[in-house]
Amino acid sequence: MIAATFRGLIWNLVVGISQGRLYSAAHESVGVAAERVLALLGECADSRCAIMVVKDDLVFNNTLFREAGIHGVKLVRLLGAKGISRVDFQPGVSVGEIRALFADLASTKDAAGQYAHIRLGRVEMNTAAQGAVAGASADAGSLDDALNDEQIARVKTVYGQVSPFRELPIVGLEEVVTTFLLTFRRGANLLRMLSPVKSHSEHTYTHAINVSVLAMALAENLGLKDDSVQSIGIAALLHDVGKLLIPQEVLHKPGALSSEEFGTIMKHPLYGAAYLARVEGITKLAVLVALEHHRKFDTSGYPVLRDNGRRQHAASQIVTIADFYDALRSHRPYRRSLSMGEVLAIMQKESGTGFNPALLQRFTRMMLKAAAEA
Ligand SMILES: [Fe+2]
Ligand SMILES: [Fe+2]
Repeated sequence: MIAATFRGLIWNLVVGISQGRLYSAAHESVGVAAERVLALLGECADSRCAIMVVKDDLVFNNTLFREAGIHGVKLVRLLGAKGISRVDFQPGVSVGEIRALFADLASTKDAAGQYAHIRLGRVEMNTAAQGAVAGASADAGSLDDALNDEQIARVKTVYGQVSPFRELPIVGLEEVVTTFLLTFRRGANLLRMLSPVKSHSEHTYTHAINVSVLAMALAENLGLKDDSVQSIGIAALLHDVGKLLIPQEVLHKPGALSSEEFGTIMKHPLYGAAYLARVEGITKLAVLVALEHHRKFDTSGYPVLRDNGRRQHAASQIVTIADFYDALRSHRPYRRSLSMGEVLAIMQKESGTGFNPALLQRFTRMMLKAAAEA
């Protein structure tokens, strides 16, 4: 999809909503804007277009669009006024639905309606994060911290819904990883983006977030394209989802584990992969990363697979490095947290066996550079 299409969509969405404020939804000018939006959606891959608002930026189909101009600012404001952070146009959307969307966004009523082929995502910020984001005087550091709180809250909500009987709202996760990517691009220090574990019960979410941030930073450092960085970010956020499907009294047992309990914990990659394989909208990559993140570069590790001699997927190699680093950096009830230098030294000893040597070298350099600049 080209920039002209994005610009056309922004312009016609703004026009449609503005005209909807002046006239009724039946007015010709609203209809013209809706028809133009529909024609432009036809230029999107598979006629799908996901428009996301991440802070003040617009993201189209997971690609940041920097040249949105004054109309972009206006669209961000119009959607923001309704608490909408995402608009997904799906194949089969009609002029009538787009007109109805314009009318709803133009109205002074709080809630926008339901449409068969348009999905709206809401901003669900906690109060602390809202305050800091709204506060223009917030310095960069406190803003990063506030974003982290917001991201933790979102990931916590999604993780709280993990159950074989419920749908996983992955749209929320896509927004989380896009926010990380934009935060890197704004030049935020990687180490400042990592969350300390505040309480034992938060470990699952903060670990998921940290692994995602580190894996995305490494993917970005390798020069991968935006959509690959995003896919790795989502896969990393979900790598340990299988832990939520094993008995929590085993997972959080403070003392030493019996060999049977240890065996149960070692099943989390299999449980996670089996669970994710059934979730609609989850990429095969996320399933693979969940399955392979405790396998090692030399093909040892767990679980033992039928094609055991095959190396981990490159994305799994990245997540394995991020996962190991964060696991050892975190303070756990049974051991102190290790310093960055201690963890990197331990990892170095496993270069070529536990970890891909080239990726580990990149990761080490990236972390040391971030530490020097922090
Ligand atoms: Fe794990
Ligand atoms: Fe993990």
